[in-house]
Amino acid sequence: MADVDWEALRLAAVDAMAHAYCPYSNFQVGVAGLTTDGRVFAGCNVENAAYGVGLCAECGMVSALQLGGGGRLAAVYCVGHDGKALMPCGRCRQLLWEHGGADCLLMTPEGVLPMSAVLPQAFGPDNLTRVATSEGPSGHG
Ligand code: THU
Repeated sequence: MADVDWEALRLAAVDAMAHAYCPYSNFQVGVAGLTTDGRVFAGCNVENAAYGVGLCAECGMVSALQLGGGGRLAAVYCVGHDGKALMPCGRCRQLLWEHGGADCLLMTPEGVLPMSAVLPQAFGPDNLTRVATSEGPSGHG
């Protein structure tokens, strides 16, 4: 997708970041994703007194995507408090892989990269499909 307005996506992520609930880390994160059909969804991190159940910004973004009708992510911009590109954590790269796949573009501190570059040899939906079709539902081989 050559026509991504990266600055508009960054600004949407910065707007979302302003809503972060992060009293424990004081580390605000915002993210915005553009779908292949031109919609934009955003999210911010939402922490919890039980630290381990805090939600990353990407969790909110993919939930908003699904609630908004679903679809495929074409481009994602995640930002930290300084409004600059922030690399999604490992778990969130997996979330982006599920909803955008190998060709989804991600803004990184090193420029735009496809998900295949930031989550190489990813586990994903295809792995499950292959087992289901080759072995059938019982799947014990
Ligand atoms: N965080 C995100 O929201 N997304 C990421 O990809 C990295 C980390 C949040 C989680 C936590 O609220 C804060 O950043 C510090 O780790």
